Amino acid sequence: MTSLVLSASRILLIIGGGVAAYKSLELIRRLRERGAQVRVVMTAAAQQFVSSLSAAALSGAAVRDDLFSLVEEAEMGHIELSRAADLIVVAPATADLLARMAQGIANDLASTTLLATDKRVLAAPAMNVRMWLHPATQRNVATLRADGVAFVGPDEGEMACGEFGPGRMAEPLAIVAAIERALTRSTIIPLSGGSPLSNGSPSRGPLTGKHVVVTAGPTFEPIDPVRFIGNRSSGLQGYALAEAAAAAGARVTLISGPVGLPDPPGASVIRVETARQMLAAALAALPADVFIGAAAVADWRVEAASDQKLKKDARGAPSLSLVENPDILAQIAATSPTRPRFVAGFAAETENVVENAKRKLSRKGCDLIVANSVADGSGVFGGADNEVHIVTASGVESWRRMSKPEVADKLIEFVAARMGSA
Ligand code: CTP
Repeated sequence: MTSLVLSASRILLIIGGGVAAYKSLELIRRLRERGAQVRVVMTAAAQQFVSSLSAAALSGAAVRDDLFSLVEEAEMGHIELSRAADLIVVAPATADLLARMAQGIANDLASTTLLATDKRVLAAPAMNVRMWLHPATQRNVATLRADGVAFVGPDEGEMACGEFGPGRMAEPLAIVAAIERALTRSTIIPLSGGSPLSNGSPSRGPLTGKHVVVTAGPTFEPIDPVRFIGNRSSGLQGYALAEAAAAAGARVTLISGPVGLPDPPGASVIRVETARQMLAAALAALPADVFIGAAAVADWRVEAASDQKLKKDARGAPSLSLVENPDILAQIAATSPTRPRFVAGFAAETENVVENAKRKLSRKGCDLIVANSVADGSGVFGGADNEVHIVTASGVESWRRMSKPEVADKLIEFVAARMGSA
């Protein structure tokens, strides 16, 4: 379960005072099982929700909560806390903590550490929907984004307070993915995309001026209004590609099947369910310079999905007649005159990985196939890492096992180089 990005990393986790603090305990576990070293700072309010004893036990290190503790400061001062970290993660980032961060207020250990740091900061907001939507919070978030703070979430859904809407903290695994992205990325792109950051890193790059379309996630093919045929694709690789392309300066359209991931920074996301919807969205997104089909499109759909929920009756189990779905990648590669200059697809194989990928390259008419093994035990589907072979007409490159964000960065670099030299 170790992750190459996380295994050598040092994360300083600041836990704010919100109901979602219990999810931060899970976050510590997920980070540690991937090999990260985690140090925890808790606000006074956080300790109303979870105990520092739990956080200490899970992180394997003493938890810091007091700016004025002579003993703790002597052991590791608050400046050193941030110096000794690769990334600071604020989760849950409450409305109060975000406000203090935005204003530069340093009135406890958490806020002082955040003001004293020059390290990258990732915040996972969590609060009541009205607090999140309040102009004051939105102003603070905009200020923090402009300062280079990265955000993951909040998610939309039912909240502990019984209300519904945006404000739930992102799930621990989504935060882990955002941490990996933040650690592998040299620039932080604001969630809304667009403006350059105040840290001086422009959102210009090798793909500036280019339009990149990415498909990601599974497709769900309905059987009836409540049931579907789907697959285990997490969408992580496609989302990481969309983020990497945006970080390289591209305008990015991400066409996503149903996944539980937050929108990647800098991409416009079109959400679809079925393969046919994905195809329509992909065709509508053209013209594009680059198309990357990372979605695990369902090969078949039910020929005649039922309008009504299928009921158990004396006739026994229904038999489903399947028909083939359109091949999105092949169709995009065959569009004329709107064919993107570079079309890349993935080949998920359980055997003869490279040979099958070479066949797919010519059968689908694309310029590159990223071939990976999804055999039992590879852990690729839904997993954090990927081990891929890059198959083009000019040969095969095998890359070492690395995290999906790293694969994404390298692949975008590869594509940008091809675009430059074409
Ligand atoms: N793909 C697509 N539309 C489909 C099926 C696949 O766009 N209906 C794309 C995927 O996004 C991926 C590539 O084609 O980039 C290969 O997907 P894969 O499932 O490995 O190949 P299949 O074409 O389904 O072939 P097979 O399952 O027979 O290996």
